[in-house]
Amino acid sequence: MHISGNTILITGGGSGIGQALAEKFHAAGNQVIITGRNAASLDAVAAANPGMATMTFDVADPQSCAHFAANIVAAYPALNVVINNAGIMQNEDLLTAPANLPTTEQTIATNLLGPIRLTSALLPHLLAQPSASVMMISSGLAFVPMVATPTYSATKAAIHAYAIALREQLRGSSTQVIEIAPPYVQTHLQGDHQAKDPNAMPLADFIDEVMAILAADPAVEEVIVERCKPLRFAAQNRNFDQVFAAVNAPH
Ligand SMILES: NC(=O)c1ccc[n+]([C@@H]2O[C@H](COP(=O)([O-])OP(=O)(O)OC[C@H]3O[C@@H](n4cnc5c(N)ncnc54)[C@H](OP(=O)(O)O)[C@@H]3O)[C@@H](O)[C@H]2O)c1
Repeated sequence: MHISGNTILITGGGSGIGQALAEKFHAAGNQVIITGRNAASLDAVAAANPGMATMTFDVADPQSCAHFAANIVAAYPALNVVINNAGIMQNEDLLTAPANLPTTEQTIATNLLGPIRLTSALLPHLLAQPSASVMMISSGLAFVPMVATPTYSATKAAIHAYAIALREQLRGSSTQVIEIAPPYVQTHLQGDHQAKDPNAMPLADFIDEVMAILAADPAVEEVIVERCKPLRFAAQNRNFDQVFAAVNAPH
């Protein structure tokens, strides 16, 4: 993927990683459209970045996906990049089953079915573009799960697997598949404490490293920043148990 000259849809672009990616791509000379459920936060980001566009969209809502896809293609016929970034991360105590199931189902609907439905709805359009990309935001927890967030970790592992299979099915087409696996980053994903947690990677540092990797290798398949490498390669490094213990250590 070339990092300028694209028309880019970013889900969950009103905050955190999605907002930071939106602002970097906007500054790099792309038409960026951000979506989310909260119109006020989308509007605030767009107001600070003149030319950026917004559309509200709930990725967990199966009814609105096809309608949204048709609308965005009609409004932006040059759309050629989709960044599936929207996500939620909630703790689940499985011992409360079945009371935990609403959290489980909402997590799967948002983090797994949402990206799959949106990608599926937009794929015919993307494949007709001269050059296109589907980006999936997974997580280091795809490779080493967090015990407190079992379904979250499972959805990210599933997104990793889906990205590999999608990439192979699209090989030879105009559309590439890029997975970004963030480490623990300072955003409000799990609440205000995360945005200030010194154990989390500063958001600006993370985005700078991501953009540098994308710029250096237009054919990159997985974007793994240095901080995420211990998780991504725990199995290959044969130290899964140590990394699992570190990820799940109380702090
Ligand atoms: N921060 C980390 O440590 C970390 C690590 C690994 C992976 N990630 C992944 O990075 C992505 C972005 O997370 P973040 O850290 O930037 O957290 P964030 O600031 O909470 O961003 C999540 C975004 O997703 C949107 N969203 C949630 N549910 C949605 C829905 N049903 N429909 C549409 N949009 C929805 C939210 O917007 P609305 O509320 O307006 O809908 C919000 O803008 C997520 O996929 C997350 O799993 C984050």
